[in-house]
Amino acid sequence: MQLRNQVALVTGSGRGIGRAIAHLFAKESASVFLAARTEKELAAVSKEIAAEGGKAEYATADLTQEAACAHVVATAREKFGRIDILVNNAGHYGPVAPVEEYPLAEFDRVIGVHLRAAFLLSKLVLPEMYAHGSGAILNISSLSAKAAFCWSSAYAAAKAGMLGLTRVTAAEAARKGVRVNAICPGPVTETRMSKELGADLAKRLGVSPEDQLAGFLSTLLQGRAQTADEIARAALFLCSKQSSAITGQSINVDGGAAFY
Ligand SMILES: NC(=O)c1ccc[n+]([C@@H]2O[C@H](COP(=O)([O-])OP(=O)(O)OC[C@H]3O[C@@H](n4cnc5c(N)ncnc54)[C@H](OP(=O)(O)O)[C@@H]3O)[C@@H](O)[C@H]2O)c1
Repeated sequence: MQLRNQVALVTGSGRGIGRAIAHLFAKESASVFLAARTEKELAAVSKEIAAEGGKAEYATADLTQEAACAHVVATAREKFGRIDILVNNAGHYGPVAPVEEYPLAEFDRVIGVHLRAAFLLSKLVLPEMYAHGSGAILNISSLSAKAAFCWSSAYAAAKAGMLGLTRVTAAEAARKGVRVNAICPGPVTETRMSKELGADLAKRLGVSPEDQLAGFLSTLLQGRAQTADEIARAALFLCSKQSSAITGQSINVDGGAAFY
């Protein structure tokens, strides 16, 4: 019951890591507000949480749009009265292409869903958190923010930008009772984004998806992928009182890949 009486807005929660975070937060007694574009997936997660005795509501939204971010925050408040926790998780990888071939519109979309949406949603929830003198924001960044993987310029820039946003927001919020942190997951291979990325990388490298994945995993100390549940457990830690003295940090949940 680590999140009793807390309301958590978790973006990108129709599947993958966001879904795992929503489930775990609901199990810890948070009321969870879900947001993504695909209503069918949001409805399914909401139903699953209700079946487990939890509370969940949702709104469909393309979070690259400013008005959609405002709609999500307003609807979450309408349904649950307040927002105590914001998890900026929604995202997609974008094209696997070198900088000189990367389409600008795709670059803007990737920055939009990761960095710009995290900024917009933070902007919308912070005044209420400051008024309460409490709150937690968690930005789901990536190992890509700290390593150098080819053909991912927008994604790496967006995820590194989220770490800068995390530190600055943490500095502004620290003495107002609000903590802001980030998680940098390594490969969570069970998710749609990761599977699609693996297929695209394998194609570009001219190898099988299995060989591409095995080669990458062998570079991690643990030699294996991370699970969505493992990311969710780190998220719970960073959004609960267990981490009360931790702010402005990024925690690597990557099986031993980045060391700063
Ligand atoms: N899987 C990994 O290996 C890995 C590693 C490091 C970091 N991450 C990060 O973890 C987060 C979750 O990724 P995942 O692996 O769980 O991928 P996923 O299973 O594909 O889930 C992505 C979620 O984001 C939502 N989303 C995407 N674009 C959106 C938009 N414009 N507006 C609103 N929602 C949107 C998707 O729903 P709709 O498509 O219905 O909108 C979905 O719910 C991402 O930020 C990703 O960068 C993943």
